[in-house]
Amino acid sequence: MEDYSRRAFIRTSLSGFLGVTLALPTITALATRAQAFEGRVPPGAPIHWDAFLEAIAKEAAKQHLDRWDERAYVAEMAKLARRLDLKDERLILALEKAKKGIGNGRIDFDHLEKNEDFQVSFLQFEKGEKIDCHDHPEMTGVLLCATGEVDVWNYDLVGEEPEPGHVLLREVQHTRLKKSHVSTLTSKESNIHRLKARELTQLVDIFTPPYNEDRSKRSRWFAVDDEPYQGQGKDFLAQVR
Ligand SMILES: [Fe+2]
Repeated sequence: MEDYSRRAFIRTSLSGFLGVTLALPTITALATRAQAFEGRVPPGAPIHWDAFLEAIAKEAAKQHLDRWDERAYVAEMAKLARRLDLKDERLILALEKAKKGIGNGRIDFDHLEKNEDFQVSFLQFEKGEKIDCHDHPEMTGVLLCATGEVDVWNYDLVGEEPEPGHVLLREVQHTRLKKSHVSTLTSKESNIHRLKARELTQLVDIFTPPYNEDRSKRSRWFAVDDEPYQGQGKDFLAQVR
């Protein structure tokens, strides 16, 4: 989903997706708008969009520390994603507005936040729309299902070139995300995935670090065999596209 120039995707013009916030230099603006995340909000309570972004930014800044633990980080981000208040009226309105993209036969996307540490992207699928198998080089990802229902298959790379132009992928997870469910990947675990929407679905994805030219260029897409490698198990031959 990173190579957004692919024909399957279309960039929506969702600037203003969540009101004024995104029209401003967001993180700076958030400092004044977020009402001090964790200052007033009880631990574990739902948080609105501004507090959510502020909390993500704070957490993402830690990736530069020597002792950064990627797995713990992703678990923390997943926890934050589950706390995003999907009943918040402003968010509901924004998600409703985003539906203007429906009917174009492609997956809608937009960047809701992008800076040097992380990016938050919005993705909208119609029923049956899918994203082919791809990896996320040296990145972590947290996908929050805001509305709808989507199947997500995660893979680990277990072999390069078992056959020319192919890799071997191990299916490590198949999850069905519904509203408020979260799927995660790290740079080493479950880093490869593919998705297929079972109904109209809207996702909020957090990538740390964000896509840049290098990471986009190194991202690979795969055509995965329907049948397991050598007829059994969870390993699949996949052609590098
Ligand atoms: Fe992805």
